[in-house]
Amino acid sequence: MTTVKKSVAVLGLGSMGTALAGALLAAGHQVTVWNRTPGKAEGLVARGARSVDSVAEAVAAAEVVIVCILDYGDIGPLLEQPGAAWQGRVVVNVTNGSPEEARAMAQRVTALGAAYLDGGIMAVPALIGGPQAFVLYSGSREAFEAHRDLLDAFARSVYLGEDPGLAPLNDLALLSAMYGMFGGFAHAAALVRSAGGPVAEFTTTLLLPWLQAMAGGLPAMAAQVDAGDYATTGSPLAMQVAHDAIGDVSRAQGVSPELFAPVLALMRRRVADGHGSEDFAGVVELLDPR
Ligand SMILES: NC(=O)c1ccc[n+]([C@@H]2O[C@H](COP(=O)([O-])OP(=O)(O)OC[C@H]3O[C@@H](n4cnc5c(N)ncnc54)[C@H](OP(=O)(O)O)[C@@H]3O)[C@@H](O)[C@H]2O)c1
Repeated sequence: MTTVKKSVAVLGLGSMGTALAGALLAAGHQVTVWNRTPGKAEGLVARGARSVDSVAEAVAAAEVVIVCILDYGDIGPLLEQPGAAWQGRVVVNVTNGSPEEARAMAQRVTALGAAYLDGGIMAVPALIGGPQAFVLYSGSREAFEAHRDLLDAFARSVYLGEDPGLAPLNDLALLSAMYGMFGGFAHAAALVRSAGGPVAEFTTTLLLPWLQAMAGGLPAMAAQVDAGDYATTGSPLAMQVAHDAIGDVSRAQGVSPELFAPVLALMRRRVADGHGSEDFAGVVELLDPR
């Protein structure tokens, strides 16, 4: 399928904005760039971008405006730049923020006569344009469908719905799962190192296969959460918390159990509440009581 070449502006040339603009250039789009501090556009200009001195010029040159700056709170002044005519534009804001901020921004942008999409980039700059990256979008379905071809230059595009808060909510849910995994890695690495073992070999030969096997069980756990039915499939919580074996071995090795302790506390609370014969996924009921 031939991609239609479009005029697009990128506001913000930090490491992510620069990567996004580069991907748009690589896809053959007509790219205009603006950055608060001059001097960051040279590389992109050498590749065919046009650099402008004001937000108003960038907005005038583009049907789609990508906003990628550090803080959500600093977007408002960009929208209010003198002479910036937002009417009829599509604003794709990939600045990280909260669902509430995204909903407020959508109202503000649509009041200016533009369509709004909020984006959550699930990648680091080096992965933009590659096969592993994906970007979550929420907000105007019409804008997403009209410009999906352009957005696909960044990464695989995933549209979540009209509520602009959905992209940041899902973005943060994914990051929380990532930090859970990183936390688990940190504790495992500390334990192995405390016993003199090489962490690299442990990670490649044991940890990765183990985590991959455990990740295979997540869809079944998710089905338990959706059904609200946590009947055990073989590893009941009461059995899992009968001993604090991880805490005991950590203390014996001089390793702090502080990362695992809150997880153990939740499991024990669930057992104390009478759910000892259920599976781990039931702790979701403690995190999100309803
Ligand atoms: N980098 C990542 O791995 C990654 C991954 C996913 C999402 N993101 C998100 O992408 C956004 C940009 O990240 P980044 O990595 O590009 O950050 P960065 O390299 O620190 O660049 C920050 C950018 O924001 C601009 N900026 C800061 N304050 C501004 C203001 N008051 N007015 C106008 N522009 C302002 C900076 O302009 P100056 O050059 O003038 O300072 C610069 O262009 C963030 O919301 C971040 O959470 C980043």
